[in-house]
Amino acid sequence: MTTRRGLLAGGVALAAGAAAYGVLGARPSVNLARATGFPRLQMPPLLDTSESGRFDVTAQSGTTSFIGGRATPTIGFNQPYLGPVVRVQKGPLQPKVANALSWPVSSHWHGLLVPGEHDGGPHLPIGPGSNWTPDMQIDQPPCTAFFHTHIHGRTAQDVYAGLAGVIHIVDGHDAERGLPETYGTDDLTLVIQDRRFAGDGRLAYANSMMDIMHGMTGDTILVNGQIGTAAHVPKGIVRLRIVNASNARIYSLRLSDSRPIHLIATDGGYLARPIALETLRMGPGERAEILVDFTSGHGVSLVSDGDPNQGIGGMMGRARGMLDGLTGARRFEVLPILVDERLPVAVAKIPDTIGGVAISLADFEIAKTRRFSLDMGMGGGMMGGFAINGDPFEMAVVNQRVRLGDTEKWVVSTTMLAHPFHIHGVSFQVVRENARDPLPESSGWKDTVVIDGETELLMRFTQPAGDRTPFMYHCHILEHEDGGMMGQFTVT
Ligand code: C2O
Ligand code: CU
Ligand code: CU
Repeated sequence: MTTRRGLLAGGVALAAGAAAYGVLGARPSVNLARATGFPRLQMPPLLDTSESGRFDVTAQSGTTSFIGGRATPTIGFNQPYLGPVVRVQKGPLQPKVANALSWPVSSHWHGLLVPGEHDGGPHLPIGPGSNWTPDMQIDQPPCTAFFHTHIHGRTAQDVYAGLAGVIHIVDGHDAERGLPETYGTDDLTLVIQDRRFAGDGRLAYANSMMDIMHGMTGDTILVNGQIGTAAHVPKGIVRLRIVNASNARIYSLRLSDSRPIHLIATDGGYLARPIALETLRMGPGERAEILVDFTSGHGVSLVSDGDPNQGIGGMMGRARGMLDGLTGARRFEVLPILVDERLPVAVAKIPDTIGGVAISLADFEIAKTRRFSLDMGMGGGMMGGFAINGDPFEMAVVNQRVRLGDTEKWVVSTTMLAHPFHIHGVSFQVVRENARDPLPESSGWKDTVVIDGETELLMRFTQPAGDRTPFMYHCHILEHEDGGMMGQFTVT
């Protein structure tokens, strides 16, 4: 029963079967033949709003059979765990978000550039039995976005239990760009999460102080809410839209036979041209679209190195400078991908250019520079001490006021751990990471970026947010966010 689970625990395989399926060594040799017996990875249901400009989602509870038929209580949008992929395009968008749960939830559109009143953050709770109908306008480049509940103090537990979904913004020009675009065939959506299960099949959540301090990680990988599946793709070029919907885990993704990851889009949309990478780092809340070349007919496995924040590589390891040697040794498998030659091939070559907007914010005058330090403390056996610039989040305190239309530089620094920093209502550019040029995966438009040291961001504020519904900036390790590593700002 456990043989198909992708298990990891401090980097060591738990189950015997995991030696074949799960954790990999420094030079992974993946037994893909074995994966032919795995259940096929299912895509989330597609809700296409292109015609209607409307969609309905209901936050609801249910049970999900993740492991061996045992029923796990979960929550989701329109289904027991996670939610649909909502496909939207430029123009009016009228969601109706209903809450069939017995506690307040919200629906934050992580990655949509909409005003504060439509943002779905902590100031826009939807009470039990109520619904929320923001009247929005979508006007931003194609990208893969994310939506999830965002009630202060319970975001982490409710996202962990399943309350999140995906948004694709499309413009109908992907064929001209030479990009695969057939949902579930050569354009796959992968929602990657790690979870921990108790013996009775329930999700185990935050049992120790370490789960709060380092953020909640699990020993079992879920892709689209499924454990131990394999994806099937055509013998051509395949697009993977990857969403790191984990509470805390930072992945360093690779392909098991070292073929390149061709990065084509970051959080905010397409790059000007593909960038070939060996490793793609993704913190919680980040999205990336990549192309993988299957024209050889050979399958491959998506694997990850260990999380720099966890285990011996966490605070203690960092202090001792042991980090780098250990992450490779903790490599594990995320998803085997098999070629099915019966599937239609639409794209047979990686395009040279994608045509993403590469305007430089450096051409704008910087109206203001702000500094943020992401703080965490440990004292007297108390967990937390999470704050930004020394101030823990307070619903009633607006921490920053920004002028609409201004370009600003935000300099964000961390102590102790790496923290994925996210800003609502804006797309930013990463200009410097630890006094160097940004990593390739940080070179496009972003709304979330892993900060490990000091990072400089440039952004222009185009969406208004007033005092009643300010925008948030926070660490996307959800335990840190709920613990107070969050602030809010108006744009007027
Ligand atoms: Cu995805 Cu404020 O969050
Ligand atoms: Cu957000
Ligand atoms: Cu954090």
